[in-house]
Amino acid sequence: MWPFNFAKEDKHMSKYIEEKKLKGREKFSGKLGFVMACVGAAVGLGNVWMFPYRLGQNGGAAFLIPYFLFVFVLGSAGIVTEMAFGRFMAKGSMSGIRKAFKDKNLKGGKVISLIPTLGLAGILIFYSVVVGWVLKYFFISLTGEIYTINPSEYFNSFVGSKETILWNGLAVLLTLIIVIAGVSRGIEKINKIMMPCLFIIFIVLAIKSLTLPGAYKGVAYLLYPRWENLLVARTWIMALGQAFFTVSLTGCALVVYGSYTDNKVDLPSAAIQTALFDTLAAILAAFVIIPAVFAYGLDPGAGPALLFVTVPTIFKAMPLGGLISTLFFLSIIFASLSSCIVMLEGPVEAAMSEMNISRKKASIIIAIICFLLGLPMDLNMNLFSKFSDFITIYITPMGTLIVAITFFFVIGSKEALNEINKGAEKPLGEHIIPLIKYGFTATTFIVIILGVIYGGIG
Ligand code: TRP
Repeated sequence: MWPFNFAKEDKHMSKYIEEKKLKGREKFSGKLGFVMACVGAAVGLGNVWMFPYRLGQNGGAAFLIPYFLFVFVLGSAGIVTEMAFGRFMAKGSMSGIRKAFKDKNLKGGKVISLIPTLGLAGILIFYSVVVGWVLKYFFISLTGEIYTINPSEYFNSFVGSKETILWNGLAVLLTLIIVIAGVSRGIEKINKIMMPCLFIIFIVLAIKSLTLPGAYKGVAYLLYPRWENLLVARTWIMALGQAFFTVSLTGCALVVYGSYTDNKVDLPSAAIQTALFDTLAAILAAFVIIPAVFAYGLDPGAGPALLFVTVPTIFKAMPLGGLISTLFFLSIIFASLSSCIVMLEGPVEAAMSEMNISRKKASIIIAIICFLLGLPMDLNMNLFSKFSDFITIYITPMGTLIVAITFFFVIGSKEALNEINKGAEKPLGEHIIPLIKYGFTATTFIVIILGVIYGGIG
């Protein structure tokens, strides 16, 4: 009789522990809110100012083959790993990693556990600089000033000026307000508004862009498959870097969001949906920007100039350009602010649980620190690019690697798979273990090496 009783007791016990683990922890209201927040984290400036250009540069439709492969196989493996790790530990990245190491009596957990969270805070520091520029351009679109400017002169004198500090501050402040409001009342609510609006605006703008005379040249640039590009290593490397960056693998962001879910949430499906909507946003962004760029005979080069010089040049020349420009920059605000939110939430969660302080206090402290550290980058673009390279080449992929190793090697792949499959309608089979345990971790390692060789691929 006793084994039966024992099993019952054990089940009861684990339920008790489960409840205790979740007690007091904030939560998303359900899968929808969780997925919206994850899509918000994934869709960002990378989709808008990197993807369209890379697609055209690296073989058009041919580029989509390695890109889809990397996003949907490796990207979603990484996403589900991070989400499940957060839920398994019911902790954010920093406390989660440390506890996992401690439980197995392994040394080094304290130091290692800092890396993913610091990396995420690092992204916030430079990313919010650019979000500040976006806010400024939204504002000058709204007032109609955008009609009167010479786009390249204007941008060159704006970037690096003292004025950018103000806009960077505004970006951090908006993020702060949302994060202070909490997981379900702030983060979830705002993403549930921003994400649908973002997609609607993108669709409207893509239709507008595609119906401009001469737009077909841009469509050809994006879609005409140049298969020979698949023989070039660079195509695959850029697709890999783009895939890792775009789904926001850092070993912290999606861990924290995952830690706010309960066992009912279907993580494999949430991961695929995140990758899917992220890809959709990237492709829509490409169809918003590139056809218009070609219709106006401009250069589709990537980077700051695309958003802040090329695009305004188009809006200036376009009937109703002010309105379209306002909508465009509003959608970029949605895309980038929803990313800033998780960049702040990661370190805030860590501060809350490590220092036992309130959400409000933690949010204000971290936001101020990140803003202050960003000031030199407002004023010095050289520093900006050095710092952003340092974070995205070394730190964030290392954070990704740390979480994958902690979950699959330190804690164990059986436990990891078990957590991934809780709540899954179609549980993943054991064959997935080697793919993540060896395939994903090895690829992440390769991402770091290639980033160093190429001076950044993400
Ligand atoms: N995916 C974001 C983009 O495409 C950038 C990003 C990288 C990010 N790592 C992140 C956003 C972590 C939030 C959290 O712009």
